[in-house]
Amino acid sequence: MAITHPSFGTLDDNRIIIFDTTLRDGEQSPGFSMNLGEKLRMAEALTELGIDVMEAGFAIASPGDFESVKAIAESIGQRDDSPVIASLARAGQMDVLRAAEALKSAKRKRIHIVIATSDLHMKHKLRLTPEEVIEATISSVTLARQHADDVEWSAEDATRSDPDFLCRVVEAAIRAGATTINLPDTVGYALPEDISKMFADIRARVPGIEKIVLSTHNHNDLGLAVANTLAAINAGVRQVESTINGIGERAGNASLEEIVMAIRTRQDAIPRHNHIKTQGLLRISKLLSTITGFDVQPNKAIVGRNAFAHEAGIHQDGVLKMAATYEIMTPESVGWAKNSLVLGKHSGRAAFRDRLQTLGYRIGDNQLNDSFRRFKDLADRKKVVFDEDIVALVDDEVMRDHERIKFLSLDLHAGSKRPARAELELEVDGVTKTATATGDGPVDATFKAIQNIFPHEANLVLFSVGAVTEGSDAQARTTVRLEENGKLVDGQGADTDTIVASARAYVHALNKLLVKRTRTEPTALNA
Ligand code: KIV
Ligand code: ZN
Repeated sequence: MAITHPSFGTLDDNRIIIFDTTLRDGEQSPGFSMNLGEKLRMAEALTELGIDVMEAGFAIASPGDFESVKAIAESIGQRDDSPVIASLARAGQMDVLRAAEALKSAKRKRIHIVIATSDLHMKHKLRLTPEEVIEATISSVTLARQHADDVEWSAEDATRSDPDFLCRVVEAAIRAGATTINLPDTVGYALPEDISKMFADIRARVPGIEKIVLSTHNHNDLGLAVANTLAAINAGVRQVESTINGIGERAGNASLEEIVMAIRTRQDAIPRHNHIKTQGLLRISKLLSTITGFDVQPNKAIVGRNAFAHEAGIHQDGVLKMAATYEIMTPESVGWAKNSLVLGKHSGRAAFRDRLQTLGYRIGDNQLNDSFRRFKDLADRKKVVFDEDIVALVDDEVMRDHERIKFLSLDLHAGSKRPARAELELEVDGVTKTATATGDGPVDATFKAIQNIFPHEANLVLFSVGAVTEGSDAQARTTVRLEENGKLVDGQGADTDTIVASARAYVHALNKLLVKRTRTEPTALNA
């Protein structure tokens, strides 16, 4: 039956709402924290991808979280093509009001309330009786409806909750005004048949359920998050919650790209539709990897390096004769393209801007100028400039927006005859500073020069180098992980010069550390 939703109007039976929680559930997992500029960049890319709801954060968790939800509501949230902007809130007055305040300027907003409903969580974590959980549900949803027409209510640990109690509390949430009911598999415990049964039960037993949107949110502890999400869709759920690359608490959430491509590829079994522009999937996956410093594993479905690589001779032969022999979807449909020579050193600003637009970037004039300068420099040094190079270069530039410490230049003397020496120039809070250092190799000398300019106690715990494209003139993409008082940050850098890329990555990590020092971690989800 078609239903009418405050944010989406009339929804036909086959429409699936894609709710993305990369910036909340994904971002709260260890190592994946992002600063404001990075969140805005991801928010922009998610909007271009066509998601329906963007969970921008958990407003009460920290001043930084509040600011990022607010900034996304004020920028993306004002646009005509904006998704619904959501903030998480626990089932308490302060949380709901803080979420409402952060979301105030979004044209379409959602307050997302969560409270645990399993005996285990209610007793040991919340220390509330089931009746108190129902009361908190009613009061928080009622309050949220005074600030937003669109209110989602989630039963944390729904899959381990008593089915009778779940029906009672869901009914109470609907009566209080919830417009979406989400039943998460918070600990990734359920099997697909459990999910089908839970939703069938709720749909059969809860009065009023036919008028609201049912939602699924699955964690991947048993590797079943996507399978459970598809089972939920076939059990009548209209909203799926997921993240890019499947990032999220512990083993992560259901991966958006896998769900969307499963629906698209298996229309025979899942005849549903959504608004995701699938050609943008690879691009956004790479952007997230660049920002967080975590590459997906090579065999990751859809976006892994090997997802469309055919190694066995028989397979290669088959694909060459007829791609469908071994490809169930085309690589182009998710954004894979053969390396394409796009621009050269004679290309002008207009061509560069045009290419960026084709690649899905909307960047301001200042960033365009800086990126163009770096593109010219790259085109001088590298024979051919591929789309991948431009993506790496621009993402690198965009990541550096709002940073206190900026890389300016590096001069190196290295080789086998004498100790390596680095002459480094950084800008710190607008002031240019230089340092020279020697070290055990050029990377060591460069990192010591950074330490001289900006003394800090953080330990270097990981340093890795990869190539953006093939060939000896390929750009290097480097990752530096720093640790300070148990806090981990990853920085990235890209350049044809591996040591310059390393310096950029180190500086990026330091900037993240400065942000992290001012930030408190989100508190436990208890009432
Ligand atoms: O996993 C979970 O239960 C959650 C809720 C906040 C929806 O992330
Ligand atoms: Zn979750």
